[in-house]
Amino acid sequence: MSDSYAVIGRPISHTKSPMIHGLFAQASGQALEYGAIEGVLDDFENQVLRFRRDGGLGMNITAPFKVRAFELADRRSERAQLARAANALKFEEGRIFAENFDGIGLLRDIEDNLAEPLRNRRVLLLGAGGAVRGALLPFLQAGPREVVIANRDMAKALTLRNELDHPRLRISRYEELEGQAFDIVVNATSASLTGELPPLPAGVLGEASLAYELAYGKGLTPFLRMAREQGVARLADGVGMLVEQAAEAFAWWRGVRPETRAVIDRLSIPLE
Ligand code: ATR
Repeated sequence: MSDSYAVIGRPISHTKSPMIHGLFAQASGQALEYGAIEGVLDDFENQVLRFRRDGGLGMNITAPFKVRAFELADRRSERAQLARAANALKFEEGRIFAENFDGIGLLRDIEDNLAEPLRNRRVLLLGAGGAVRGALLPFLQAGPREVVIANRDMAKALTLRNELDHPRLRISRYEELEGQAFDIVVNATSASLTGELPPLPAGVLGEASLAYELAYGKGLTPFLRMAREQGVARLADGVGMLVEQAAEAFAWWRGVRPETRAVIDRLSIPLE
């Protein structure tokens, strides 16, 4: 039997993870199986434990189970702890290790694939939910001039700032962004899923060189449309992040870092 991995989430039918890991395995000559499991809300923990008992070596975790996966683990990386969520598990030496590669995947995509290093740049993160929690530590470690988190619910942003008190991290109300300029703006809210636009004051995107929409395959969302209207040169969606976080998990499990470019090209959907 070859080494076995799987992604679990609910719903899981649209997952790209088996395809991505299949391509990585092929390209790097690794023999492994990678399946998809529809999670059951009141049985998630047992599903993970059964997968491990049956010889599984690791799992990717997607919505809505990332927090429960984190809680189930007995060892958690620093970035998983800040995110309070796991998107990858590894079963080794009788233990469950939890990682969160969403943030580092996003950073890799921005810095390596889109050629926009964060060092000394002004970065605006929209939202203060799980996606921002995952991104914050890798972003701050990349040496930006500042990272500003804007969220409607300031209490949530404040909690995050208090957990990670960092000299380069600032929180802001949307209306306080008026007149400020940023180099890189990431929409990590869930607004695009319902076709909404975060309440950004006019002109905030005007000096940005990259507008990044975390949602993938939604085309020109209201956020990306606004960025284009304000003249942002580069627009991106989350396909690169998806592939890069998968590459991190693959390297963590297999000790081999796969090439990502061809896989990103294959999965990319034109924005319009
Ligand atoms: P995720 O784990 O995907 O980040 P989440 O934890 O539910 O999801 O967080 C969703 C984020 O999207 C929150 O920051 C939320 O803002 P509030 O905390 O102020 O509610 C943000 N969000 C959702 N819809 C939004 C909208 N229409 N405009 C701005 N922010 C929005």
